[in-house]
Amino acid sequence: MKRIIVANLKMNPETRGEAERLFREIKRTAGKLRGVETVFCPPFIYFSSLIVKAGLTNLKLGAQDVFWEHLPAKGGAFTGEISPLMLKKLGVKYVIIGHSERREHLKETDEMVNKKVKAALKAGLKVILCVGEKEKKEDVLPVTVKKELESALVGVSKKMAENLIIAYEPIWAISAGQAGQADKPEDVFEKTIYIRRILFDIFGQKLAYGAPILYGGSVNEKNAKDFLAVRNVSGLLVGGASLNAKKFGEILKQAAI
Ligand code: PGA
Repeated sequence: MKRIIVANLKMNPETRGEAERLFREIKRTAGKLRGVETVFCPPFIYFSSLIVKAGLTNLKLGAQDVFWEHLPAKGGAFTGEISPLMLKKLGVKYVIIGHSERREHLKETDEMVNKKVKAALKAGLKVILCVGEKEKKEDVLPVTVKKELESALVGVSKKMAENLIIAYEPIWAISAGQAGQADKPEDVFEKTIYIRRILFDIFGQKLAYGAPILYGGSVNEKNAKDFLAVRNVSGLLVGGASLNAKKFGEILKQAAI
């Protein structure tokens, strides 16, 4: 299975020109590598200029969010929102759902996350579902992770779940613009076992072992290889370090075969 390395640009960069430059540089590195699927997630407004440039490479585009209603069944009267089908038809392959920053700043609830997950999977997008505990002390068997996973996956069939990717991001490890402190690889391993156990209870064995699990939270070019060496970790969700093409390129090279 290919490793999946996701660049979550968040609300960056400030201009389309910078977004295009970053995309071009990352694409150049990604194009030379094997065994790694690179997913570039810019703000929505940059999609149209990047989509043309994505072409037939192993650099895929992903959205950082999506709404849960489809056009045209509901008439599209949802000011400011973007539907899963719009993304799909544009050529976007992935979507990040339930990122902790949206849960916190936009008060996105488990129920909203669940609706988005179902709508996106139905539209044929690959869903990167983010889960993670807030406090470090919760870290042995984080109840938050169980609650977030179970509620996000209500009504998701086994068939739909074939396009599901879990991103385990302990909130305390996310850098949020400052130098953060990443989780320990051995603790991430434990958490992945816990996640697989929850997936087993929901979907059974095949999906529990097959679903890719990514780690995210202060990943950089120095620690990436330690997380990639963790059995059960299929890739990385990278925030801050993805804004620097050189650093992100280093991470990609470590993920390649
Ligand atoms: P970070 O962000 O790599 O800057 O910690 C990760 C994320 O929030 O997805």
